[in-house]
Amino acid sequence: MIKLLLDVDTGIDDALALFFLAHAQKQGQLEILGSTTVGGNAEVAQTTLNTLKIWEMLELEIPVASGAERPLLGPLETAPFVHGDDGLGNTFLSVPRESASEESAVDMILRLSHEYFGELTLLTTAPLTNIAVALLRDTSLAGRIRNLVIMGGAVFSGNVSAVAEANITNDPEAARIVFHSGMEMTLVGLDVTHEVYWEEADLEPLVKIGNERSAFLLQIIRFISAAYESLSGWRRCVLHDPLAAGVCIFPDLVKTEKRYVDVELRGELTRGMTVVDRRGRTPLGEENMQVALEVDAERFKTRLMQSLLAWTQEG
Ligand code: BDR
Ligand code: CA
Repeated sequence: MIKLLLDVDTGIDDALALFFLAHAQKQGQLEILGSTTVGGNAEVAQTTLNTLKIWEMLELEIPVASGAERPLLGPLETAPFVHGDDGLGNTFLSVPRESASEESAVDMILRLSHEYFGELTLLTTAPLTNIAVALLRDTSLAGRIRNLVIMGGAVFSGNVSAVAEANITNDPEAARIVFHSGMEMTLVGLDVTHEVYWEEADLEPLVKIGNERSAFLLQIIRFISAAYESLSGWRRCVLHDPLAAGVCIFPDLVKTEKRYVDVELRGELTRGMTVVDRRGRTPLGEENMQVALEVDAERFKTRLMQSLLAWTQEG
């Protein structure tokens, strides 16, 4: 069974990923060993509270270890216009009953990598700061991880700039460290996540449920859809982080190519861009990760909706 540790900046689409993973755990598809948090969509104090709260809503006792407050260099830029002032669509949930664990995010990552040597799947849906700091403390971490699935980057087109994606741009130096670590990696970037989204009509099954749980989900999904509309013109909830979670369990949801990928650190217009060398014989370096380029969007959207409906019907 898949042993999973996730690193998140919860965040609306991170939250949807947690719902999906919780359902998969119930179905015996994986075991969630822990969760670590980082500043990204909101300050780390808030992403930690949000992660604790979502686990509580799901009635799961999964430890949450708080991590980096800011990127390795420079200040943190949060995204209240996309995820709300509370990171969860201004739903302003009550304070969670549980607190973050005593252990730091980096300590949790390193400990679990020893306890589950060669077995651990790491999922990151956030800036890569915690993973980079763990690698700086102990480079041998890379050899103990079975696979790192990263929601981040893009081959063809960015979101926070013409060429760069948010999670990588929020800490490009950390991404550089991780990309060069030698870890087994799969990059689930905008090329595939932008193909997987819900529009209002897709929400019909949730609308029909009509209880408190479905109301919460609809509120966060509609909040991010409206934000996306003002940024891009398309009113839709793009399922970035849930798709990366899906790939951890069902790798065949995406078609990948093994490529050399690096991160632009200095470009005037391109800082944070993932540079994917797709040339056949003259790569910039050794291929260092699988890059997702095609996705079975319908299959995943159905699965994700099923996991949300299951939770709303339990309550
Ligand atoms: C990524 O950036 C964050 O805002 C989302 O939660 C997702 O992880 C998409 O670029
Ligand atoms: Ca995220």
